[in-house]
Amino acid sequence: MRPPLDTPEDMLPGESVAALLRPESMLDPSPTPREMSCRAFRDALGGFATGVTVLTALAPDGQPVGVTISSFNSVSLQPPLILWSLACSSPRLEAFRRARHYAVNVLAADQEWISDRFASPDPDRFAGVRTIVGIGDVPLLDACAASFECSSEAHYPGGDHVIFLGRVRRFSRNELAEPLIFHAGRYRVLGDGS
Ligand SMILES: Cc1cc2nc3c(=O)[nH]c(=O)nc-3n(C[C@H](O)[C@H](O)[C@H](O)COP(=O)(O)O)c2cc1C
Repeated sequence: MRPPLDTPEDMLPGESVAALLRPESMLDPSPTPREMSCRAFRDALGGFATGVTVLTALAPDGQPVGVTISSFNSVSLQPPLILWSLACSSPRLEAFRRARHYAVNVLAADQEWISDRFASPDPDRFAGVRTIVGIGDVPLLDACAASFECSSEAHYPGGDHVIFLGRVRRFSRNELAEPLIFHAGRYRVLGDGS
């Protein structure tokens, strides 16, 4: 049976990575069928609403690193395990791979600017961001909806991403904070009706 048109099988690995990483503005005005398929795949994935997190750790040189991540998810309750994935192209990949501890900071609805900052080319992502020191000296972002402090359990290859499995050592939750939501390429808040 023919697979539906928008399946990942339509994409060649190299082309899919290139199309996913290229900013929209650089895309050829008349994309190839494979690029269209890749965009359709990305758009379909965007139909899955997620929260927004910032993963933080210390690089081997002691500098704080952080990146906006929506691929966070729960894995196991006993033992307490979570996962997330980071693009192989990220300059911060090695720092996270070598980190013994990292933290998942679940952003609150009023922290959209922090999400943008940690997804931007800004070299000083932590400027003006209040942090406290967590396990392994990992910086924890202040006033988040929740945080999960993890030890690094394992890494797995995942195509053009690396999948990180973390064991939760400590967590906290701010029950009063509404979470920030990401859906169809846009930020949303619960009950915004859009
Ligand atoms: C809402 C949102 C969610 C994101 N989720 C992920 C993700 O799960 N994995 C990933 O590799 N990049 C994700 N990104 C992209 C990175 O945050 C972005 O590429 C960032 O610039 C990467 O930083 P670096 O590669 O310079 O470390 C996301 C971006 C946004 C805005």
